[in-house]
Amino acid sequence: MKTEIASVDNLLDKEKSYAQAVDLLSEGETVAFPTETVYGLGAVATSEAAVSKIFEAKGRPQDNPLIVHIGSKEELDTFTQNVPSLAKTCMDVFWPGALTLVLPIKNNSLAENVTAGLNTVGVRMPDHPVALELLRRLKQPVAAPSANKSGKPSPTKALHVYHDLNGKIPLILDGGATGIGLESTVLDFTTEVPTILRPGGVTKEMLEKVIGQVNEAKLTDEAEAPRAPGMKYAHYAPDAPVYLIEASTGKVGQAIEQIHNDQQKVALIATENYRQSKADYYFSLGHEHQLEDAAHLLYEALRSCDETDANIILVPVFSKKGVGTAIMNRLEKASNGKWFES
Ligand code: TXA
Ligand code: MG
Repeated sequence: MKTEIASVDNLLDKEKSYAQAVDLLSEGETVAFPTETVYGLGAVATSEAAVSKIFEAKGRPQDNPLIVHIGSKEELDTFTQNVPSLAKTCMDVFWPGALTLVLPIKNNSLAENVTAGLNTVGVRMPDHPVALELLRRLKQPVAAPSANKSGKPSPTKALHVYHDLNGKIPLILDGGATGIGLESTVLDFTTEVPTILRPGGVTKEMLEKVIGQVNEAKLTDEAEAPRAPGMKYAHYAPDAPVYLIEASTGKVGQAIEQIHNDQQKVALIATENYRQSKADYYFSLGHEHQLEDAAHLLYEALRSCDETDANIILVPVFSKKGVGTAIMNRLEKASNGKWFES
């Protein structure tokens, strides 16, 4: 299959690209498109056959459910039921936006493979002009996980999608670099107290201001794991092993020296205050204390390591405040919890 990258930059391209994307989705094909978080790989959420193409293209485990994307709130009633009022408040405040709500599903409404057989469904309205235009033209809910090869960092540019899925999908809508750069916050409304299953751009602090108490699922707690099936898989991992390290230019300097003494090459992914380090490769996460920039740059930095011959990737940790919680969540997965030990 030939994979086309379609521009939506000028009026002429725009019409042609959206029409092509709507046709493909209507025919049961997959299409990759930008959202404000990361690029998604979409298929019509009511078609089992179309949705199975997503799993196939990504090499995604079948028991990991997909997020359903909608362009208007009216679509919600067709596949959810008993939506709690706090969830409705969240939609009013945060949609369109980087917040996925897990809600009770209506029987026989969506293809079974969207939810991996769960009686709940994750849904969000993305805040990106291209995603919204596509969804509003199609007028159907679209199941879309991140458009990466399973296990790799999520794509924040059309070229990342092309790199991972070239030959496996017919079309990528190119909307430039995504804004937030990390996936949406997943908030479960089927628990007594709403529970964050995956931290993201909409932080616990932001949610609690609007709906009061919110819990966080502990990633290390096995008992919690089945609630967000995606949490148990390796994620966001470059080819070389990623090690976390204390945020200290001194500690990082010593680590690099030690790695060099072992005749190994090191890539450093860190904020600008580490730029002068002696790492063989350096990928910037922007200015210190600008957590939004670090979130925006992280996945491309992880991907860039695969273009180097570094044997080890070092990442100084962030404090788990605000978006720092989401950044650390992804880094803990990318590193599989490994810390550099001198
Ligand atoms: O920002 C995003 O959320 C992106 C863009 C494309 O919208 N999508 C995304 O999808 O990150 P994906 O499939 O890579 O991640 C979906 C996450 C997984 O961790 C999955 O386990 C969880 O959401 N999830 C989906 N439906 C669920 C459900 N019914 N109950 C619990 N967790 C669910
Ligand atoms: Mg993903």
